[in-house]
Order: sequence, then C-alpha cells, then structure tokens
Amino acid sequence: MNVETVSPIYYDPFDVEVDRTVHGVWKRMREEQPVYWNERYRFYALSRFQDVWDAYHETATFSSTHGVQLETLDEPIPFPSVIFMDPPEHGVMRKLVSRAFTPRRIAELRSYVRTLVDGYLDPLVGASGFDYITQFGALVPPMVIGHMLGIPEDERDMVRHWFDDILHREDGQTEATNPTSLDAMLNMHAYATKLIEERKRRPGDDMISTLVAAEIDEDGTSRQLTDDEVALFVLLLAGAGVETVARLLSWAGVTLARNPDQRRLLVEDPSLVSNAIEEILRYEAPSPVNGRFTLRDFSAHGIDIPAGSKVLLLNGSANRDPREFTDPDKFDVRRDIQRHITFGFGPHFCLGAALARLEGQVAIAGTLARFPEWEIDESELVPVQTSTVRGYSSVPFHLG
Ligand code: HEM
Repeated sequence: MNVETVSPIYYDPFDVEVDRTVHGVWKRMREEQPVYWNERYRFYALSRFQDVWDAYHETATFSSTHGVQLETLDEPIPFPSVIFMDPPEHGVMRKLVSRAFTPRRIAELRSYVRTLVDGYLDPLVGASGFDYITQFGALVPPMVIGHMLGIPEDERDMVRHWFDDILHREDGQTEATNPTSLDAMLNMHAYATKLIEERKRRPGDDMISTLVAAEIDEDGTSRQLTDDEVALFVLLLAGAGVETVARLLSWAGVTLARNPDQRRLLVEDPSLVSNAIEEILRYEAPSPVNGRFTLRDFSAHGIDIPAGSKVLLLNGSANRDPREFTDPDKFDVRRDIQRHITFGFGPHFCLGAALARLEGQVAIAGTLARFPEWEIDESELVPVQTSTVRGYSSVPFHLG
C-alpha cells in the first residue's frame, strides 16, 4: 500500500500550529492511520497504545542508536550515552548507572526536595501572583540533579544555567544543536571532567563518585568507566531529567487550573496527590514523542516500514487511546491507572521515573498546601515545543 498518497492528516512535531490541537490530530491518526507517514521529514509514526508499547520492547527492530529525537535519526550517534545504546551494550551500561538511582538513594532525596520546594514557595505566600515555572518549576529539577551529582551549593546556579542552555532551541530549529546549546555542552563537559578528577582524589557520597568507582564487565574483563563516559552521563541527566520535570510541573499547574473540581479533591484529600501525578503524566506526557531507527523490515496495520526508516513512538497519543483507557480525554485524579507510557517502556524505561514522581508529588503537595486555588490566563501561557518535549516555559498564576 502506498501511504504517501492518502494522508489528509498532517502531523509534524516541529509545527507549533499542529501542536495547538495535537490531541485531535493524534486521535485521527489512531483511528485512521495508525501507521502514519510524514513525507516532508520522511518519518513513520505509531500512535496506538499497544503498537507503541510493543515497539519499546522490540529493540532488535526499533533501535536507539540513531538517537531518540527526530533531528538525529538519520545518522548513528557518534559518542553514545546509555539512552542511545541497544542491547546488549545498553544492559551493561544501564546496570552500572542504575546504581546511582536505587530506591534508597531516591527516597533519601525527599527531605532535600521538600526543603527546596519550601524555600522557593514560602516567600511567594501572600503575593497576588507569580510565574509557576520561571519562579518555581524550572528551578527545582536542576537543583535536585546538582545535589545528586554532588555539585557544591554555590556552583549549582551556574550549572543550572548551562543545563538551561543545553536545552535552548532556536525558533524553527530542526537540527539537534545550536551555538548556545553546543557552548553549554562544552562548558558542562569541562566542568564535569573537573568534578570527576576531584572525586577520584576525594570520593564522596554522590553520583559521580559512584560512577567513578564502578567496575564494568566487558568481554570477561572488568574496567572502570572512562572520564568521557561519566561526563556523557552527566550531560544525559541534564538533557533527560531537567526539562521533562519542569514541563511536568507546567502541565500540573495548567491542568489543575483547567479542572478546579479535580484540584479541590486534592486539597480536601492530599493522599490523592501521588495518583494525581500519574494522571497528569498520562494526560499530558511531558515527553510525548520518542524516535527510533528500524534495523529490519516491520509491518503493522497493512503498512510496510522498511529497514532504515525513522519511526516516532507517540507516547502522548498512546496515553489517550480508548483501547487502553476508559474515557481517555477525561482528567480524573482518582482514575485507576494500571500503566501508561509516559516514561517509555522496555529496556530504556526512564531511569529517573521514581525521581520525577518524587519531585512531582512534593512540588504539587507543597503548592496545594499554600495555594489551594489559582487562575491562569490561557493567552499568557508560553508553550515550549521541541520535537520530543512539550509543555510551558511560563505559567503565570493569578492568586485571589
Ligand atoms: C516527568 C519527567 C520525565 C519524563 C516524562 C521522562 C521520560 C523518559 C522517557 C520517555 C524515556 C525513554 C526514552 C526512550 O526509550 O528512548 C526516558 C529515559 C531516561 N530518563 Fe527520563 N523522564 C523524566 C524524568 C527523568 C529524570 C528526573 C531523570 C534523571 C534524573 C531521567 C533520566 C532518564 C535516563 C537516564 C533515561 C535513559 C534510560 C535508558 O536508556 O536506559 N528522566 N525518560
């Protein structure tokens, strides 16, 4: 079947106009073209829950070695970190870095995150309004990662700016990097290399010390990670764990304002907050699009996807698939959620999922305890859109 001739649907993750009504576009894709073809950027997209779920598991067909952003899928990533590896290399590296994300380590962060949240929100009590993202949501995640990495407190703000710049996007950018992001990556890499040297001399109880000391088993011999491998992991954390959590908090601020009845339920019963975070994650995935490169031919719904193709896995659409969720467009903080695909699935399942959940829960509980009601003006929201991340960079709260 020649899919290039039949599409009246237009989906393109770079297009801001498409993004405004993307749930409607995804709905049509799920129903009419579950294997969608975009001629302009020459990618396929899978939008149904089960198809996306299966593709995450089938790493022999759907490879991560060309990156996970549409911008990079044409070529292999030259210096891959764990997210850009396929099994079996991926498993070896993942096992190593996952030591820095044990449940004990994440649970230990709760009191630090609470102190951080209190410190940002307390001074805002009594104000007539504030920007939920620039004055709060965008500040928490980089500080948490700085803390995990063992970055000295007085240097965390400097590093936070590099993290921001690494994620900087030019208007209309369709390449993976730009001069600002490249510059920040180089600065961060140099800084990480300096930290690695210091931790080798004086190990601490931080993630860099854990990685520096870890032994990797390769072809029957064991070795330590190179400085570059550790530094690449630090850069990955900046890319994977900062903007996603900030966008999660932006969706929380916006979605709860749009659904005041649901917000009231949380104020009346804060024990619902952790389920509400799952529902926010399902309802508006902060990272709704993940790319893959096909290593062999694949067919679904009568469409052939040849080896060597770019395929987008639409988590954001899968999470609204009525085949998986009852009344999927309804936002319901009491929904019984068995699974969603916001953190991906299979071998690459988000390493930071527990941390993201913790940050989300502490941030929202702290927000509702101080500000049980807020209003937003839709015209003031500033959307952030990259080909993989979706949400807002500015969400002004108006307090009564
Ligand atoms: C709401 C927040 C977050 C969302 C929506 C999110 C989403 C995702 C998704 C969809 C993947 C899978 C990518 C793929 O299969 O190609 C992933 C992987 C990953 N995430 Fe997250 N993430 C979040 C927060 C975090 C945080 C806080 C960290 C770390 C501090 C983190 C670190 C990672 C890492 C290291 C991977 C790669 C795992 C691997 O390849 O084995 N993420 N994330």
